[in-house]
Amino acid sequence: MTRRLLISYLSLAIVVLAMLEVPLGFINARNEKERLTSKVERDAVAIASLAESTIEGERPSNRPAIRSLARSYAADTGGRVVITDRAGIALVDTAPPSPGRRSFATRPEFRAALSGDVATGTRSSSTLGYDLLYVAVPVSSGGNVLGAVRVTYPTSELDRRVRNYWIALAGIAVVVLAVATLIGLSFARWIRRPLEGLEEAAADAGAGDLSARAPVPDAPPELRRLALEFNDMVARVEGLVSVQQSFVADASHELRTPLTALRLRLENLERHVDESGNVGLEAASAEVDRLSALVEELLALARADAGTAPAESVDLACEAAGRVETWRPVAGSVRIELEANGIAAARVGRDRITQVLDNLLSNAVRHAPGSSVVTVRVARRGHQVELRVVDHGPGLTDEQKARAFDRFWRGGSGGGGSGLGLAIARRLVEVDGGTIELRDTAGGGLEAVVRVPAA
Ligand SMILES: Nc1ncnc2c1ncn2[C@@H]1O[C@H](COP(=O)(O)OP(=O)(O)OP(=O)(O)O)[C@@H](O)[C@H]1O
Ligand SMILES: [Mg+2]
Repeated sequence: MTRRLLISYLSLAIVVLAMLEVPLGFINARNEKERLTSKVERDAVAIASLAESTIEGERPSNRPAIRSLARSYAADTGGRVVITDRAGIALVDTAPPSPGRRSFATRPEFRAALSGDVATGTRSSSTLGYDLLYVAVPVSSGGNVLGAVRVTYPTSELDRRVRNYWIALAGIAVVVLAVATLIGLSFARWIRRPLEGLEEAAADAGAGDLSARAPVPDAPPELRRLALEFNDMVARVEGLVSVQQSFVADASHELRTPLTALRLRLENLERHVDESGNVGLEAASAEVDRLSALVEELLALARADAGTAPAESVDLACEAAGRVETWRPVAGSVRIELEANGIAAARVGRDRITQVLDNLLSNAVRHAPGSSVVTVRVARRGHQVELRVVDHGPGLTDEQKARAFDRFWRGGSGGGGSGLGLAIARRLVEVDGGTIELRDTAGGGLEAVVRVPAA
């Protein structure tokens, strides 16, 4: 990732640099050349106007003056000055390759100048072995061309300046690329470090260490969020696994008790089969009943945890009345009266709310004293529907109320249950986005309060 980030950073910098610096370099080279050409042209014109009187009167007495002017100019600037007469014969040459009078009449720049034009350009001099910038201007008086002045410059100085400019541009590019590399590297490290932490934590968690957490450092916000989400997820999985583990431990413990009892009873039965076989058989079948009830409830709990059936609009009053009807014979056998009242519809799973009602009614009927009334009340409260199962039994202390929803927890007056009813009820209510709590009934007893979303 570091390499890829660096490559993208650097290629972007290179493209931008090339787009800025290459045209800049070429523009500079052209400007330098234009500047030099126009300067040389100005000088040539100045020399030509000074030479005019010398050539015009053909006053050789003036020649040394113009010659020394040309020489000092050449010495100052490093150029070469050639002044010719109308015929192209050199009158002044500051750097003659060979002594004697030379004719420049055949040179194209002199031909142009002698016919009244200004000629500029560069050419490579085969005699000198390097490139030259030349400017040739006519020496004229009143429209008559009297001769020509040519100033030549070696372009080496110009080339050096242009080259230096290119070197400066390259230097800037190198600095920019170095800075881009540094920024890219530190940026990559900023991103990579939390990713490495996350990877390590994921590997640990994958290997079974659910206490592994990714560090949440000063990283980009997206990565911080990712690390937090990951930690959250592992924490949730850890919680789930520990719940599962304790559930399995509790369940096997709870199953072992009736199984042991059953085995003892069966052994007993074998021994006393001749004397009182009947009694042993009854007790054994009671244990089997308890065992199957327990397994039934464990299955219900597992289903509640899976809880997938969608919620629908359920008339709770109608549902409560139905469950009360079902429980009436059981309650009647211990002289408990059942009532249901109120009206409201809720958004819940029908089977789930039925099971919740059954569990609460079972508790109420189990704990209410004879000749008392157990009431199911349904009422709408804002966006929720409240379902209360009220009894006038012994009730529970605050401490017991807090524990009553734990799996397999049974109070002192347990009454033969397996301690799963309320745990299951809470799971089912939560699936529908509701809550359940236990409260004291005014005048003694317990009421279970279920709140679920109204339809
Ligand atoms: N209405 C009530 N009055 C008094 N105590 C209750 C009442 N409802 C529940 N409890 C106490 O809370 C405990 C847990 O109740 P829960 O319904 O979870 O299990 P259970 O009734 O013992 O067994 P199960 O419902 O699995 O047959 C009970 O053992 C009982 O001691
Ligand atoms: Mg119960």
